[in-house]
Amino acid sequence: MMGCDDPEKFGWDRIGEIIERDGVCGFRLINATHIEEIRSELSSRGCRLDTWDVFLADRDTALAASEKFARRSLPSEYSLWPTPTDPESDEVQRLQAMMAGAGLVPFSGSMLTGAIGSATTVVMGDTEGNVAACAHGYMPHNVYSPYHSCAWGGLVAVLESHRGKELGKLINALIISRVFRDLKASHIYELVSASNVASQRMVEACGLRLEPTLICGIATLNQSGRFTK
Ligand SMILES: CC(C)(COP(=O)(O)OP(=O)(O)OC[C@H]1O[C@@H](n2cnc3c(N)ncnc32)[C@H](O)[C@@H]1OP(=O)(O)O)[C@@H](O)C(=O)NCCC(=O)NCCS
Repeated sequence: MMGCDDPEKFGWDRIGEIIERDGVCGFRLINATHIEEIRSELSSRGCRLDTWDVFLADRDTALAASEKFARRSLPSEYSLWPTPTDPESDEVQRLQAMMAGAGLVPFSGSMLTGAIGSATTVVMGDTEGNVAACAHGYMPHNVYSPYHSCAWGGLVAVLESHRGKELGKLINALIISRVFRDLKASHIYELVSASNVASQRMVEACGLRLEPTLICGIATLNQSGRFTK
């Protein structure tokens, strides 16, 4: 999905072309005072803006809170699998299917394997060979953005039968440690639907806090459903 964090700089003509072509366009880390203006531009193009709350932490805060989960040894029935490297592989397709089954829209294989930019994916398996939990982090903002050193963490999913055992906090803590260690981020943010209580509690346990001055949105055609959880 194409996206921007300053629609004025990007230009509404270009955004309009993207929406016409793709049916969606992302607006990341938008100043909350600009949201109504964006909604009104979109409504004149037959679109609405669905929003997600932004939870943010700097490196020291996120690592301090996450450490206790990230350092825990995994229960014996789980193991961490190597990060997949082949975008077209069966293991990537199974990972994508697991994400989709949890109500998320998976990224492409190239994104998940880091073939097209700084990215990291954590995959946890169970003894039956299922993907039990996963998470992904990457650096979404380019050099023109004030947020270019911020990593995004997301696509956090735990297989339904394994939920409520703190695996969400654990895999989220692992992706946090990887974006700081491997991607050299200064901050991490995660995006949470207002109704997703489990996700909100998971990110808060890992040290992230609601940043009310920022909002993330996805422009979607009026007739389409919400893009992802
Ligand atoms: C969000 C998700 C990853 C959490 O996984 P999990 O392993 O069940 O979570 P944990 O056991 O680590 O618990 C995390 C926190 O959420 C709370 N929680 C878990 N399930 C909950 C529920 N159904 N309702 C309310 N709170 C819940 C836990 O109590 C814990 O909070 P606490 O530390 O304050 O006690 C999992 O529910 C999931 O895969 N959901 C579908 C995909 C999704 O929404 N992903 C997030 C968007 S990126």
